[in-house]
Amino acid sequence: MYGIKDKVALVTGGTSGIGRGIVQALSNEGARLIINGRDSEKGHKLMNELSGQAHFVAGDVKNAETNFQLVEEALAHYGALNMMVLSAGKLGIGKIDMLAIEDWHDTMATNLHAVFYLLKYGIPAMQKHGGGSIVIIGSIAAFHGFPNHPAYTASKGALPALVRQVALDYGPEIRINLICPAQVKTPLLDSSVQAFENPTEILAQTAQRLPLKRLGTPGDIANAVLYLLSDTASWVTGSYFIIDGGFLAT
Ligand SMILES: NC(=O)c1ccc[n+]([C@@H]2O[C@H](COP(=O)([O-])OP(=O)(O)OC[C@H]3O[C@@H](n4cnc5c(N)ncnc54)[C@H](O)[C@@H]3O)[C@@H](O)[C@H]2O)c1
Repeated sequence: MYGIKDKVALVTGGTSGIGRGIVQALSNEGARLIINGRDSEKGHKLMNELSGQAHFVAGDVKNAETNFQLVEEALAHYGALNMMVLSAGKLGIGKIDMLAIEDWHDTMATNLHAVFYLLKYGIPAMQKHGGGSIVIIGSIAAFHGFPNHPAYTASKGALPALVRQVALDYGPEIRINLICPAQVKTPLLDSSVQAFENPTEILAQTAQRLPLKRLGTPGDIANAVLYLLSDTASWVTGSYFIIDGGFLAT
């Protein structure tokens, strides 16, 4: 349906949550996949669950070499790289005066520097194979403050600017867009409410505050990713897409 059968797609953070949903959607569409995650056991379990072609590469995206290796593996396995989805990410919780300097750096390294590394190595490879489409998973935290999340909001806040810049520098061969979700039911969201006495209730209340009265699912985000990767979106670049159940409308 999306015309991405047999295209080569690289997905970071692909073994959990939103990334896992994107991997499943791309696999259903017949894409050939390079999937990154840090946990080899999880990665190999996922490989067994997918029916199409997929190759797992373990590694921490905070290391530039991991990103270089991901691109090299795509070229070695499939001889091309057509699409990239960058979903690896982490929260960085704590007000500025309470936040450890290491936590600030770790959040920036995961949510921003790793994006730079993969773009740096992936874009030339995509250009060599006729160009392609990139989707980064950002957050509504780029546009909305959340108590105690300065490192997260700052790291995600840089992404709209970066995406505009890459669209400008590398079009028309490369299209790049950003998806900014609100609360999606994943292990990351669950961990964000673990400090509360009643995490389940907090999530239920969060859902009820949304105009659409439910949390997002990885599938909600994957649908938008498929559109942006496909040629249906051939006049779309440098943009961000807020997929949030109406969160920013409230
Ligand atoms: N779930 C939400 O409510 C929500 C909302 C807005 C944005 N997001 C963003 O969506 C993306 C995916 O989050 P999720 O909710 O699916 O979380 P998740 O924790 O379920 O999945 C994130 C994945 O990224 C991996 N990862 C983290 N750091 C990594 C690193 N250094 N190297 C390699 N892999 C690493 C994790 O191991 C995990 O597999 C993140 O960028 C997150 O900021 C999530």
